[in-house]
Amino acid sequence: MHGDGLTIAVYPGSFDPITLGHLDIIERGSRLFSQVIVAVLANPSKTPLFSVAQRVRQIEQATAHLPNVEVDSFDGLTVAYARQRQARVILRGLRVLSDFEYELQMAHTNRSLAPEIETVFLTTTTEYSFLSSSVVKEIARFGGSIDHLVPPSLVAEIKQCFQPHLSAT
Ligand code: PNS
Repeated sequence: MHGDGLTIAVYPGSFDPITLGHLDIIERGSRLFSQVIVAVLANPSKTPLFSVAQRVRQIEQATAHLPNVEVDSFDGLTVAYARQRQARVILRGLRVLSDFEYELQMAHTNRSLAPEIETVFLTTTTEYSFLSSSVVKEIARFGGSIDHLVPPSLVAEIKQCFQPHLSAT
């Protein structure tokens, strides 16, 4: 791979919902790569809180300030999608040691399928090392504050999901 300064990175994930930890990786990735494509997986094994279309819109709102970030959805293998988009990098965030085994397995699998695509890991900013979409949903379910965990544009929408009797404003 020759560095030509035009490297497209795909940042795949469930993003159900996007958190400030994800946004941190997207912002830092957007400074490293010519384009970052945030790719929402459309065939998850578990039932999501938000539809793919909702998640794409939420991420678009949260990344509106980043001109070289695009949001899309995909089905099937990440490497197939990356090839289709001519991306040479799959971007992933690493929070804690327990992430590593799964991420390493995924990176090796993806390299065996597409040796020309590199997985690049960014370590998550320490203040978000505990944060995940599941943590956000758990807190929101029990009425706790999520203001410091998700992009501001999303706070009301998530709260509304769990406490529909409250106004979404
Ligand atoms: O945010 P997540 O749920 O940790 O993201 C996981 C994701 C979407 C990156 C992973 O499940 C994935 O790449 N799925 C697509 C199927 C695939 O390519 N599998 C081969 C790698 S093991």
